[in-house]
Amino acid sequence: LNKQSPIVVLDSGLGGLTVVRSLRQALPAEDLVYFGDTARLPYGSKTASVVTTFVSQIIRYLQPLEPKHVVIACNTATALSLPDVRAEFPSLTITGVIEAGAQAAVEAVGAIEEPMIGVIATEATVRSQAYEKAIHKRRMKARVLLQPAPLLVPIIEDGRMDADPLVQLAVRQYLTPLTTRGIDALVLGCTHYPILRGLIEETVGPKVAVVDSADHCAHEVLRKLESAGLRREVSEPTRGTLRCWVTDDGPRFTRLASRFLGYEIPRPTWINPDELPNARAELVDVRSVG
Ligand code: DGL
Repeated sequence: LNKQSPIVVLDSGLGGLTVVRSLRQALPAEDLVYFGDTARLPYGSKTASVVTTFVSQIIRYLQPLEPKHVVIACNTATALSLPDVRAEFPSLTITGVIEAGAQAAVEAVGAIEEPMIGVIATEATVRSQAYEKAIHKRRMKARVLLQPAPLLVPIIEDGRMDADPLVQLAVRQYLTPLTTRGIDALVLGCTHYPILRGLIEETVGPKVAVVDSADHCAHEVLRKLESAGLRREVSEPTRGTLRCWVTDDGPRFTRLASRFLGYEIPRPTWINPDELPNARAELVDVRSVG
C-alpha cells in the first residue's frame, strides 16, 4: 500500500456518489474507484446473506487495485455485512456509513435533553436496528423513530427528481408519520436520499435538522489515511481521478451520475455480475476529471 493507491467506494447504485462528493471535497487529490451494483439493486429489500455475498464479491473483484481504503457507501450493506466483510478481508481498512450518520444526528440535536430523531432508511436497514444502536451508544436518552422508505431508491435510480409529483407524494407519505410526532432531526439513512435533500428539507420544515452520513464518513477516511501516513499531498496531483464500474447500464449511470455530481464522469466499465466471483479488476491508467 502506498499514497498512490486508490480509495474504493461501493454502493448498490448511485447513492454512494453522495459520499464521493464529500470525499472529493475532503480529499481532493485522491484517486477514487466507484462501484455501483446497478444490476442487483435495490439491496434494501434483500436479506443479509445475499447482500453480504454481493459486497464480498465486489471487494474481492476490486482487491487487485490495492485500495488503501474501502468505503461501504451504502447503509444497507453497512448494516448487514460490515463485520463479515471486515473479517473476510483483514488486510483492508473498511468503513461504513452508519456510525457517521448517527454521529451527524447527535451533533444536530445538540443540547436537547431528550431529542427525538427520525430516520428514513431501506427496509433492511430499519430491520437491522443498526441506527438505534449507533444513536443510543452516543445518546442514551434519544428517542429514535425509524421509517422504512422502500420506494425512494427505485425512484431515484429511475432519474426522477424533486419536481416530479410521484417523488413528492412518496416523500410526503414517508415523512408524515415522523413530522407529526415532532422529530428534532431527520437522518437520511440511505446514501441515495441526499439526492432529494431539497424536497425532504422543504417537506419537514425549517425546525427539523436534516443530516446524512457523507461528510462525517469522508472525515473518518481522512483521519484514517492521515494516521496511517497514506494521505496524498494536495499538490500531487491537485485533483484525483474517478473511475467507475457498474454491473448494468453504463450510459444511464453516466447520465444520472454526471447530473448529480455536476460534471461529466468518464464512461464506467461494465462487469457482468455473473462473472464477478471469478474476475479481477484491472486499472487502466486513464486520467480523468473527478
Ligand atoms: N444506498 C443504499 C443505502 O444506503 C441503498 C440500498 C438499496 O439498494 O436499497 O441503503
